[in-house]
Amino acid sequence: MSSDNTNTIESVLQEERIFPPSVDLASKARINSLDTYQRMFNEANRDLETFWGEAARKELQWFEPFSKVLDWTTPPFARWFEGGKTNISSNCLDRHLDGPRADKTALIWEGEPGDVRRFTYRELHQEVCRAANALKAIGIGKGDLVALYMPMVPEAAIAMLACARIGAPHSVVFGGFSAEALRDRLIDGEAKAVITADGGFRKDKAIPLKSAVDQALGESACPSVTTVLVVKRTNESVSMEAGRDYWWHELVANQNTDCVAEPMDSEDRLFVLYTSGSTGKPKGVVHTTAGYNLWTHLTFQWIFDIREDDVYWCTADVGWITGHSYIVYGPLSNGATTVMYEGAPRPSNPGAFWELIQKHGITIFYTAPTAIRAFMKSGRSVPDNYDMTSLRLLGTVGEPINPEAWMWYREVIGGGRCPIVDTWWQTETGGVMISPLPGATPTKPGSATLPLPGVDADVVDSEGNSVSVDEGGYLVVRKPWPGMMRTVHGNPKRFRESYWEFLRPSDGSFIYFAGDGARKDVDGYFWIMGRVDDVINVSGHRLGTMEVESALVSHPAVSEAAVVGRPDDLKGEAIVAFVTLENKRVASESLLKDLRSHVGQEIGPIARPDEIRFSEALPKTRSGKIMRRILRALASGEEVSGDTSTLEDRSVLDRLRA
Ligand code: WT7
Repeated sequence: MSSDNTNTIESVLQEERIFPPSVDLASKARINSLDTYQRMFNEANRDLETFWGEAARKELQWFEPFSKVLDWTTPPFARWFEGGKTNISSNCLDRHLDGPRADKTALIWEGEPGDVRRFTYRELHQEVCRAANALKAIGIGKGDLVALYMPMVPEAAIAMLACARIGAPHSVVFGGFSAEALRDRLIDGEAKAVITADGGFRKDKAIPLKSAVDQALGESACPSVTTVLVVKRTNESVSMEAGRDYWWHELVANQNTDCVAEPMDSEDRLFVLYTSGSTGKPKGVVHTTAGYNLWTHLTFQWIFDIREDDVYWCTADVGWITGHSYIVYGPLSNGATTVMYEGAPRPSNPGAFWELIQKHGITIFYTAPTAIRAFMKSGRSVPDNYDMTSLRLLGTVGEPINPEAWMWYREVIGGGRCPIVDTWWQTETGGVMISPLPGATPTKPGSATLPLPGVDADVVDSEGNSVSVDEGGYLVVRKPWPGMMRTVHGNPKRFRESYWEFLRPSDGSFIYFAGDGARKDVDGYFWIMGRVDDVINVSGHRLGTMEVESALVSHPAVSEAAVVGRPDDLKGEAIVAFVTLENKRVASESLLKDLRSHVGQEIGPIARPDEIRFSEALPKTRSGKIMRRILRALASGEEVSGDTSTLEDRSVLDRLRA
């Protein structure tokens, strides 16, 4: 982005379907005009270190001040706020206890069956201290990795904050992943303990979790795990292994409600969170203490322009980065009231979300395009039954939002009065990177608009040169930022190669490649076009095609598999698998079912292919590479265009078409 594009931004206002911030909102907002945004953006661009140094001093509490803002002498390995000591659990809790915020509601939790629990900041602090002391009691200390495999219950957030409090990095594994997937993550992270629950409620059903942990730990597969802490949620019977398994309610209840937060070095690991890439097994994305704290704190404050009386609800699961950054850390660091919901809209209760908004007077609502599209499909008669006048701001995240869904969200859910923040970011970025600011940025349906101050985002060609207006290219970030991931757990080489060496500009600088395609319009607005690598985005969840392929070929009937995404009205992308079978195996309806459930067992239900096509052969180049471009076209019913001369056997294409 050019250093001064005020004029071009003004021209935005002449275009159609532009929604400028309301005068009322702008007049109260922290960042209250495009000029203010522009000034901050330019300041940060001019002198990154002064900008972030001042922000870190002002926004976070430090046990010891940092001596250096950024060390970028060994790119792509950044070190932020070195010399400083801080603790994110204390920034999320202790610092709110001095004044009236102590008795403010920190967390409202709504269970699937309708049970509600509330915690003030004081109460949440006590619970977190108890849990932290319990962790110490079972021998967990600074640096020990603790895995969480939890339903959406308050204990999930409490456990994360407790880990952070004693300096034990957490590794949250989404409760929808299978025992196999959990095992992989426990082994890779060398987890010392697992915190789980007997089970969790998901759409009218109780899903077992503890038994999956038992399965993951079976046959001494994870020797590093010494302890399992089990929250009672669904009351189903579970087996408890003496000396290894403890009930949360027994162990935590009697602990002291004081636990001094461990002073952590800025660059101490805060957590590892696994995410899918183009190749290999999921990568453990590493985030560290101070930079991540600052990033989630400030972005939350800017993007939602949070006020003292807001009731904020993000519908994500804590198993994903959105839950980490914008259910737990960002909101609590700002002293906000955050809502956590165990359930999901389901046929038996299609108005579940709107009921919650009405019931708790929610003012800010943050969800995913896939959910919005599903609501659209069932019509406005459902949301129209609820009073949602408390809402003042809407957010979306996870995948590109089509303008039609954006307009529906604005009109039907937001009553035409709430601005929408379309936030682009990733597990790797720690927090939001490109988003409107509600009091400053005119919005265009379908565009994530402008990069936040300090985010030097651009769209480039394969040489790293900026492309021209409206030309598609690779979405990159040219400068380091405090919330950036620091490395891939146990594999710094993979970190360097996947994100920083895909594009190497001729000047030798390091630029971060996000894996997305994008274009920038005449106003400098970003339009994200989706992944350009072998990652598919299914209902806002990232999956590597190779992971699904590996799961398929691990089935005895499968010889080869190739997986691609196909555009889908509801999910964004659907998973299509092309499968060739071992000799003597015949395609059948029951084999198809079997393969789908096999993938569910290997990875989790979200990875089950929507469609499986059996084929005698896959289209390959002479060097044996599967031509996914062809499969993508076939999967979405498009003409196979472009060069097919590199195909080894052209008859394969004809047979696939038939
Ligand atoms: C990928 C990151 C960030 C939290 C949820 C997903 C896609 C995310 C947007 C958006 C268009 C988006 C990108 C990105 N994505 N937000 N507002 N517009 N695409 O985190 O699992 O790490 O996935 O989600 O493709 O690379 P994640």
